[in-house]
Amino acid sequence: MAPTPTRDDKFSFGLWTVGWTANDPFGAATRAPLDPVEATHRLSDLGAYGITFHDDDVVPFEAGQRDAAERTRILDRLKKALSDTGMQVPMVTTNLFSHPMFKEGAFTANDRGVRRYALRKALRQLELGVELGAKTFVMWGGREGSEVDVAKDVHAALSRYKEAVDLLTTHILEQGWDVRIAIEPKPNEPRGDILLPTVGHAIAFTHTLEHPHLVGVNPEVGHEQMSNLNFTQGIAQALSAGKLFHVDLNGQHGPKFDQDLIFGHGDLINAFSTVDLLENGFPGGGPTYDGPRHFDYKPLRTENADGVWTSAEANMSTYLLLKERALAFRADPRVQEALEAAQVTELATSTLSEGESLADLVADRSAFEDFDADASGARHGGQVRLDQLALEHLMGAGS
Ligand code: GCO
Ligand code: MN
Ligand code: MN
Repeated sequence: MAPTPTRDDKFSFGLWTVGWTANDPFGAATRAPLDPVEATHRLSDLGAYGITFHDDDVVPFEAGQRDAAERTRILDRLKKALSDTGMQVPMVTTNLFSHPMFKEGAFTANDRGVRRYALRKALRQLELGVELGAKTFVMWGGREGSEVDVAKDVHAALSRYKEAVDLLTTHILEQGWDVRIAIEPKPNEPRGDILLPTVGHAIAFTHTLEHPHLVGVNPEVGHEQMSNLNFTQGIAQALSAGKLFHVDLNGQHGPKFDQDLIFGHGDLINAFSTVDLLENGFPGGGPTYDGPRHFDYKPLRTENADGVWTSAEANMSTYLLLKERALAFRADPRVQEALEAAQVTELATSTLSEGESLADLVADRSAFEDFDADASGARHGGQVRLDQLALEHLMGAGS
């Protein structure tokens, strides 16, 4: 039996996830639209603590652009659902990819008018997010990129991206808002190649910004795995750099289109190490993550409305089961022994002793001249035992 989710588990869902009507490039919707108010109530009943949304997920584009009264009416309904349920809005984001105007980009579109519109649209959603208490503003640049190498000046595009983020962070500071920006990397889809394609690219970009402390990343499981990268290692580097502001959990089977499967329904052993890191931290200590456990998945197109809720529950159950297993893994004395045998714990010890200089190291014959290189080459790695213990715990056969 999977444990029952509670608010303390900090599970949040994008309204666009459960609300996806399952239209894809090859076929029409298989489900009816879902009212955001109903979604909020259902997710609350299932034990989630928050919802997240793009501006257009709640207020249709047309009303959002031209009909201020209608926008207010729609937002008031959502606010009522939030107060009736006690659900939070830990994160908001902007849709800068659906409308045809964004076909060639938003903040980095070659067309300057589109860039100016994108800034206005993002700013308005940021304001709404702050009003609703969101602590994170996600920027996923799905249309920022190209299919044609020679059709995008990448230096200029990154300068325009920086200009947009700098304008928003400067505004955040001026307003005294308690919100940070998280850039969400993705290698491709919908664009052939997207700018800031991986966690590493995005972190490097944050260091070019005017207020880097306000900008981190929102890595998504499937997006890293689409590039054949290790998600756990990606978020580990982000965490280590103080840049893991938010996380999008889902499932993916290796490098192919963005599957947005239920969390754990792809690379399960990597999902185990992800939960182990998020819940238990690094084995040798270091920064920890306490933000939302946010699911960005798509209920399979085969499922009907009931199946949507089965899949929402599945994300949380899988996470909680993995959490249970990861806690048992760390608490198992055999695992502690195996971690020591594989010298995992030794890595937290600095390479030079306190006060030791490079010259002292050079003078230390035991470090080089007398070092038994052959014996070192023959030492036991102990990695397989650890992997197997992880696997056994993962399969519930850990004790
Ligand atoms: C995707 C992305 C999006 C973003 C969302 C938030 O592949 O479509 O993951 O779902 O997370 O737009 O900005
Ligand atoms: Mn995705
Ligand atoms: Mn995402």
